[in-house]
Amino acid sequence: MNAKQVAAEKAVSFLDDGMTIGLGTGSTAYWAIEKIAEEMKKRKWKIRAIATSLRSEEHGRSLGIPIFSFADIGTIDITIDGADEADEQLRLIKGGGGALLREKIVATNSNQLIIVADDSKKVKTLGKFPLPVEVVLFGWERTFEKLRSLGCKPTRRMAESGPYVSDNGNYIVDCAFGQIEDPEAVHEEINSITGVVDNGLFINIATKLILGFENGETRIISR
Ligand code: A5P
Repeated sequence: MNAKQVAAEKAVSFLDDGMTIGLGTGSTAYWAIEKIAEEMKKRKWKIRAIATSLRSEEHGRSLGIPIFSFADIGTIDITIDGADEADEQLRLIKGGGGALLREKIVATNSNQLIIVADDSKKVKTLGKFPLPVEVVLFGWERTFEKLRSLGCKPTRRMAESGPYVSDNGNYIVDCAFGQIEDPEAVHEEINSITGVVDNGLFINIATKLILGFENGETRIISR
């Protein structure tokens, strides 16, 4: 079985009629969006959704999920999203798909953030996956050097036709730290650099991690 799909479908079992739901981004959140649309039709759920990327917004809309903006919704009950790495304390690295900023805005305005992932995403120490940092275009070269001075190897993310630009019109710099022993400190250091919009460390935000396995089983870690 597809371990990502297994985790995502388990997460959808925590949703219910009438909820406002955050739609995550990436190849695991993809399966949650598919399952939400299926359940919505089968159970005649009346739900509202807000998306963490233009990609997920289009995906949800194409399946008939009603998509709203922050101006039209109250509290988000549950957001289901993926992660690039997660540790035992549910600290995360996110942003491999470039949606970290909208993901963090949606997540921090949700009562619950359920992270769905295949079991390979669970790590002892964060940092093997290069940490995505969203930076504004103006002066990005200097911001890049300041990130380097924190001890990482930074790379500006590229797309096929040139530099990758996020849904918010910013660059992403992927910062290879190797190991992040103190994620809270690194989060603060990075976000104190002028020119940085935010980084992909999610600390004290996720409430549940659902790991999927190829044998169809799941493991749930709650905070
Ligand atoms: C999107 O920007 C990311 O935060 C994704 O949630 C993360 O990269 C996980 O993606 P996959 O589910 O595709 O591995």
